[in-house]
Amino acid sequence: MDAQEVQLDSYPDGTVQARHFRIETRQVPEPHEGQVLVRLRRLGLNAGLANRIGGPDTPYGPSIKAGDVPASDGVVEVLESRSAAFKPGDLAVRKSPWRSIDIAAEDELRSIPALGSGIPLEAHLTILGHTGFTAYTGMMRFGEVQAGDSVFVSGAAGGVGSCAMQFAKAVGATVIGSAGSPEKVKLLGTLGADAAFNHRDGAVLDLLSAAAPTGIDLFYDNVGGEALEAALEHLRFGGRAVICGGASQYARGSEVKGPSNYLRMVYQQLTMRGFDVTSNEDLRPEFEAEVATWLRAEKVRSVHTLVIGFAKIPEAFASLLTGGNSGRMIVDCDS
Ligand SMILES: NC(=O)c1ccc[n+]([C@@H]2O[C@H](COP(=O)([O-])OP(=O)(O)OC[C@H]3O[C@@H](n4cnc5c(N)ncnc54)[C@H](OP(=O)(O)O)[C@@H]3O)[C@@H](O)[C@H]2O)c1
Repeated sequence: MDAQEVQLDSYPDGTVQARHFRIETRQVPEPHEGQVLVRLRRLGLNAGLANRIGGPDTPYGPSIKAGDVPASDGVVEVLESRSAAFKPGDLAVRKSPWRSIDIAAEDELRSIPALGSGIPLEAHLTILGHTGFTAYTGMMRFGEVQAGDSVFVSGAAGGVGSCAMQFAKAVGATVIGSAGSPEKVKLLGTLGADAAFNHRDGAVLDLLSAAAPTGIDLFYDNVGGEALEAALEHLRFGGRAVICGGASQYARGSEVKGPSNYLRMVYQQLTMRGFDVTSNEDLRPEFEAEVATWLRAEKVRSVHTLVIGFAKIPEAFASLLTGGNSGRMIVDCDS
């Protein structure tokens, strides 16, 4: 059987563009015992992959050299199976080479449960995928969000933040979000934020005071730094802070800055809790069922830009690098 694949053609001198890739046809072998033949249905793209093109190996994957086929997470459909765990027609998520049809080992695939109608395939790469699961774990398990809570989410237009915000809204909380541009602030409004601000418009402490004048019960932090300090200042007595990440503090080495007002945790009896999503797999069935229900009821949605056609992968990737997307960039590879 023939498959199409996207290969790196040449190294960019500056920003990666579509012309740095080429599409080739290759023959796919028959699956062996323990393997399945899969068709790529949706491919999720990450800008970080650009750093590996001609660059060093990173914890997220090896260096991508000319002739290599990049890989990112995708939704695949099983065409033929030599595995007891999968049958033709099953859907799964996989770190997928940019290849239309491929052989995969059974342990490379994570099954997607049959969630019925009303769930778009691309949701498995966003709100039902890794970012959604991270947001759900932090918001529900560690944040213990309740109806009526006032919740502040930093980095709220990001992959995790946009899900965290929507989950808090879905349970009946009041939600305040921060993001870094007017367009992103507008997006937060469409996702149901009760208040939203651009953290570049002034001191976060003042912006949060204006957005949440009576304080907050829960802070979901993706950013750290100034946002964390401002949130600690606004948490009400007994309030909770969940530390998901600290994007503003990454790559700062010994310059990482913690909150100078942490003693407020004593006076206000606050809790601050960090978590790693990978230690919470037991929560996944509940997450999948609950978020599918919310998706069907249109209480939450997948935030993504969909590009149609396998052959458009290079253009979609180049566009992602110049900000041509709102939410996750996903390619529909059905055609
Ligand atoms: N705990 C876990 O298990 C776990 C799992 C996955 C991810 N994470 C963490 O969760 C966070 C969100 O991940 P994600 O996938 O949603 O990433 P993302 O889409 O890149 O969102 C992060 C956002 O942080 C904001 N940001 C970056 N630098 C900033 C700065 N200096 N000041 C203020 N805001 C800044 C940016 O928003 P604006 O452009 O709007 O400012 C960016 O969109 C990251 O910190 C990540 O490391 C944790």
